[in-house]
Amino acid sequence: MSQADFAVIGSRLADRVAIVTGAASGIGRATALRLAAEGAHVVVSDVRSEPREALPEERPTAETIQAGGGRATFVRADVRRTEDVESLVGTAAEISGRLDLVVNNAGIFGLAPLLETTDEKWDEDMAINVRSQFLMCRAAVRVMREQEPIREVRGRIVNVSSQLGLTAPPEAVTYAVAKAGVAHLTRQLAVDFAADGVIVNAVAPGRILTGTHPGEREYLADGTVDAATAFSLKRTPFPRLGRPEDVAGAILFLGSDDCTFVSGHVLAVDGGWTAY
Ligand SMILES: NC(=O)c1ccc[n+]([C@@H]2O[C@H](COP(=O)([O-])OP(=O)(O)OC[C@H]3O[C@@H](n4cnc5c(N)ncnc54)[C@H](O)[C@@H]3O)[C@@H](O)[C@H]2O)c1
Repeated sequence: MSQADFAVIGSRLADRVAIVTGAASGIGRATALRLAAEGAHVVVSDVRSEPREALPEERPTAETIQAGGGRATFVRADVRRTEDVESLVGTAAEISGRLDLVVNNAGIFGLAPLLETTDEKWDEDMAINVRSQFLMCRAAVRVMREQEPIREVRGRIVNVSSQLGLTAPPEAVTYAVAKAGVAHLTRQLAVDFAADGVIVNAVAPGRILTGTHPGEREYLADGTVDAATAFSLKRTPFPRLGRPEDVAGAILFLGSDDCTFVSGHVLAVDGGWTAY
């Protein structure tokens, strides 16, 4: 769906409340729009409300949803901070008395070779890319396991890992290890809370064009291909790189009633990258 013409088009998530972290921009924004388009009340959370690289016509995510007749609430939260996370989950749970879906998307990308990785860089990358998801899962599970099930499921969590958490890319020490941690956190919690009716899955996006990689904005603007983009294009079996909407569609499946007996799965959304 184009972000400019948001509209509620379905009811797969009617009467459900969903949190999406990092929802101001990129994959999180596309996911919030997609969930809201299926009737969810989306708690759009981020450290900022404006899209990261706002185009002149782009409104903040929550405003875009509201303007198109959808339901959204913006909550500013830094997912590195326990108190922000607890407050975010509490606010969401108060909207209708339950929390149906959490999408742990907030994260930052960066390459760092081992010998140039300081203690501070390691701690910072772990805090934003994996500790944040532990904090969110802990707060969400506390709410979900106490609420009444809907069709046997009390709640669903979708964590955002990465293709780089499933393979060992060159010189991505902190990012890849954090995203591998997200994949395993997903399996662990799926096992630990299956009996409680909490479904926990992850997506592992491939190279998705959100403007976060060096050279990507030029590629999106006028098709200029730098070395990193050329590598990704060659390495991806699909004849194109990913769009945020590709990931949003996978998250919608994992967060909907269509996902009934899938848990602990890390779904690659990567145009075949990890299959190659
Ligand atoms: N773009 C890709 O190619 C790709 C590939 C694999 C995985 N991912 C993962 O997908 C997720 C989204 O990536 P994206 O490309 O859309 O990035 P993005 O930069 O477009 O969006 C990330 C959002 O997270 C927010 N954020 C950053 N730090 C935060 C914090 N401490 N608390 C709350 N919000 C915070 C940012 O403000 C931003 O709006 C990340 O977890 C990323 O690692 C992206």
